[in-house]
Amino acid sequence: MPEPLFGLKHIFGIGHMTRQQIESLVNMGDDFIDLNTRDLRKASTLKGKTVINLFFENSTRTRTSFEIAGKRLSADVINISASTSATKKGESLLDTGQTLAAMNPHVLVIRHSVAGTCEFLSEYLKNTALINAGDGSHEHPTQILTDLLTLKRSVGDIQGKTMTIVGDITNSRVARSHMLAAKIMGYKVRIVAPKTLLPSQVERYGCEVFYNFDEALQGTDILYMLRVQTERMTTNCYFPSVREYHEAYGLNRKRLKAAGDHCMVMHPGPMNRGVEISSDVADSMESLVLKQVEHGVAVRMAALTALCGGGEPS
Ligand code: NCD
Repeated sequence: MPEPLFGLKHIFGIGHMTRQQIESLVNMGDDFIDLNTRDLRKASTLKGKTVINLFFENSTRTRTSFEIAGKRLSADVINISASTSATKKGESLLDTGQTLAAMNPHVLVIRHSVAGTCEFLSEYLKNTALINAGDGSHEHPTQILTDLLTLKRSVGDIQGKTMTIVGDITNSRVARSHMLAAKIMGYKVRIVAPKTLLPSQVERYGCEVFYNFDEALQGTDILYMLRVQTERMTTNCYFPSVREYHEAYGLNRKRLKAAGDHCMVMHPGPMNRGVEISSDVADSMESLVLKQVEHGVAVRMAALTALCGGGEPS
């Protein structure tokens, strides 16, 4: 078995990675972008490799982009969702993991509602590389690599830039992974949220915290909007109403203008238009949302290739 590239046996989270590993994956993703737009979108890089996508939570972008990434590189890709897996019959996560690993896939891509799922499974599945495709509110490393590639392409060097992340910080694995990435990569993160949607001790990440969105706009280079993750909430008391949330924490044209002409807009998707973002901003020239989706495929090609110890893009 070839050694994984960049010393990456698994991809658990940004918090487990070095700056060099992050840069290597982003740069490799950059090299894959062309393959995704040319007429024949196929290379033999991962021929003979097997990738299983095991998703216990809903997904459109992440699951599909891992599938397309694997298939464009000629891997055999199998998708399993929780609703059709034997976990519905009472099988444990460990038994499901061990069962799939016994079929000898090279990579298992896992999304689960529990933090640390991949680390836990890695203790038992010794011959399978694992990629965390989102574990509860903990981490979402390939989304951050996707965002960094998108920023590299549209903003250039992110060093010293300010990203303002707005919304449901408590439940967002994307926010958490960005807070970790910012320290490693040298960008600044501002957090904007109502107190009810802020994790305790958020300051330990070294971010500036704002409760008033308008106060955080000046000096922002990237406005990163988050969906309110009602599926992780236990009550509906986090804010008075959707209308009031949009008033206080929604991104509209006026706020984007106040941030300045250079300011770009990001969102990991899915967007709730009219809640955290208005349609005129979501569809604006400043919006990088669909670029994030496009680059998600390229970055996942890089992630799969690295873990498989695969060759250069062709
Ligand atoms: C995010 C996720 O699942 O964490 N979406 C994604 O992967 N693109 C954010 C969200 O669900 O709101």
